[in-house]
Amino acid sequence: MSWSPQSWRSFPIRQAPTYPHAAAALAAETELGALPPLIFAGEARALRADLARVAAGEAFMLLGGDCAETFAEFHANAVRDTLKVLLQMAVVLSYAARAPVVKVARLAGQFAKPRSALTETRDGTTLPSYFGDIINQIAFTEADRTPDPLRMLRAYSQAAITLNLLRAFTQGGFADLHRVHQWNQAFVAASPQGEQYRALAYRIEESLAFMAACGVDPARAPQLRAATVYTAHDALLLPYEEALTRQDSLTGDWYACSAHLLWVGDRTRQVDHAHVEFLRGVANPLGMKCGPTLQPEDLLRLLDALNPTNEPGRITLIARMGAEMLAAKLPGLIRAVQREGRNVVWCCDPMHGNTMTLTNGRKTRSFDRILAEVRAFFAIHAAEGTAPGGIHLEMTGKDVTECLGGAQRIAEADLERCYQTQCDPRLNGTQALELAFVVAELLREKRDLPALPTAAE
Ligand code: TRP
Ligand code: MN
Repeated sequence: MSWSPQSWRSFPIRQAPTYPHAAAALAAETELGALPPLIFAGEARALRADLARVAAGEAFMLLGGDCAETFAEFHANAVRDTLKVLLQMAVVLSYAARAPVVKVARLAGQFAKPRSALTETRDGTTLPSYFGDIINQIAFTEADRTPDPLRMLRAYSQAAITLNLLRAFTQGGFADLHRVHQWNQAFVAASPQGEQYRALAYRIEESLAFMAACGVDPARAPQLRAATVYTAHDALLLPYEEALTRQDSLTGDWYACSAHLLWVGDRTRQVDHAHVEFLRGVANPLGMKCGPTLQPEDLLRLLDALNPTNEPGRITLIARMGAEMLAAKLPGLIRAVQREGRNVVWCCDPMHGNTMTLTNGRKTRSFDRILAEVRAFFAIHAAEGTAPGGIHLEMTGKDVTECLGGAQRIAEADLERCYQTQCDPRLNGTQALELAFVVAELLREKRDLPALPTAAE
């Protein structure tokens, strides 16, 4: 049972790239191992404590960002705009629920993608599938698809730059609640949700002004001036994760220092395989994707492995079942967890179980089915007496047309207008805000609060 950052190497592994030159891979890992950590143990502990409050039903978790970050689409404005939407959603949810919102960005490390097939064949040529920019490139040539360990170093640099932006934006004044209006981007502001947001922002401003009039000095309330935004990604690429794992000098515990929270995917969560072996030894809060094939007994074995001391805040279960499957599959998992008295955060990923491929090959998701899964998630937790702890979204601050529906009524014919994702279809800023308002109402119903004022009131 002894664990070390490299003990995963003697376990069977799924979804792992084969680097053609072992010496080159080792050199890249060694170089990475000497570089500074991206996050600090104390921050990961703070997230764990925040998630313990979510598990207890006292706070809500919002996890969101791109399906995959890429090297080509990396711009400061893109990071800023995704952050704007995340802050808008957090403010809506926090105001509506009168509760803290734990904000986690799928950013600064979300580069590796599990794939349904390890190889892809076109016109008789078979090459490795594209596994994300940290591993290989999307173009269909042998050179592009061959895993290149140097890409780990580039991903590390991009993650460091992204995290620097994130820290500057959230701590440097941009996330100040007095600036709540400025997160409403022009294209969002033009929508009914943007209008509704403006009304809510106005109420927040009035509250802040009233508190100032009462003598509450904003300069002495740093909580109003800065937001805490954590990072998370799929811990798919274990050589990268191992190289960034460090022992905390304060506690002696090991932390994966590539992100605050790491999750294990639905395709890599076998209890006797490498990914679970790696994650059980790091003290970060962990996520686990729960697809429709996960059986209650297997879930309990995984919780035994990943959280033997049953610490609250350690495990977030991210259900991604699909709107139709959720009612059949989630209650069994919840009951097993309740029966055994396990502490978990329940989070809803309404994106991954609702992906469809159109006849022209485009992958898309319908806003209605995403909403249906979110509503079912809240209804099931109400029936089971458990806390609907959070939502996990694939979204962008850009005005893309990748998911169908929403108030903009994006139709199949509209998808071509601005379809940019290299991976899964994302909600655009307006759709994400629309979803936040729906979740806000669900949280208010749960707390027996009246509906939020609409834009007109
Ligand atoms: N500091 C608090 C938080 O991070 C409140 C806060 C400040 C906030 N700016 C924010 C909340 C922007 C949401 C969005 O939660
Ligand atoms: Mn995805």
